[in-house]
Amino acid sequence: MTELNLVLLGPPGSGKGTQGERLQADLRLPYYATGDILRAAVRDGTELGKTAKEYMDRGDLVPDEVIVGAIAERIDSSEAADGFILDGFPRTVPQAEALAAKLAELGRELTAVLMIDASDDEVMRRLGGRRTCVENGHVFHIDFNPPKSEDVCDVDGSELTVRDDDKPDVIRHRLEQYHEKTEPLIDFYDRQSLLRRIDGSAEPDAVADELRRSLATLKLEADEAI
Ligand code: AP5
Repeated sequence: MTELNLVLLGPPGSGKGTQGERLQADLRLPYYATGDILRAAVRDGTELGKTAKEYMDRGDLVPDEVIVGAIAERIDSSEAADGFILDGFPRTVPQAEALAAKLAELGRELTAVLMIDASDDEVMRRLGGRRTCVENGHVFHIDFNPPKSEDVCDVDGSELTVRDDDKPDVIRHRLEQYHEKTEPLIDFYDRQSLLRRIDGSAEPDAVADELRRSLATLKLEADEAI
């Protein structure tokens, strides 16, 4: 395979960020997580952040036109020439169409969409106990993946906090948004034979192993096609 252009799809809290960090280390590809990009913009007080904040606090998706440009410029950068991992984008059918159009303009296409699934009940448990590092977005869970010291990130020593959108009523609204606006992408990508389903309810190491197996199968299929 010459390039690996991957999308991580799945409900909030299914483990996209947890697995995205591992994939990034394994594959050495740039990792673009739209939630992290938007939270950094809010922190820095940029125009993007000012627009995004009210949507994010409510658990709504930001408008497509706000996020599409931010991702398009990253895909078009030299660091993404050998591939990329997208986490949290696309999240609507119009975003998926915009991504396909941008890739076609560059003479490229998606390699696979890795769908990490988890039930609504599991999502509520996971996001309720999540702790996120302020500086770089590393994620922990008070029960399932506790940091060595309370409220301190194991990776970079910065403070761990509860995200504003990890309150129970906001989590429920994010799930509604996911079912209504993002779930149609499962069929959208399945019809293009790009979808690979991963059981996100297993332990993080088991999910990572399944992702590795899925990528190895993709590579085999690509080699056979040459
Ligand atoms: P974003 O930050 O992308 O949130 P999300 O998709 O809701 O996903 P999360 O980050 O909440 O969860 P995750 O799947 O990464 O799970 P994690 O690994 O952390 O987006 C935030 C907001 O930005 C959106 O609501 C929207 O407003 C806006 N936005 C972003 N992209 C957009 C777009 N394209 N269009 C429009 N708006 C956009 O894991 C969760 C917890 O579970 C952690 O505590 C972790 O330690 C634990 N955990 C992980 N895996 C396991 C496991 N296997 N077993 C047990 N625990 C686990």
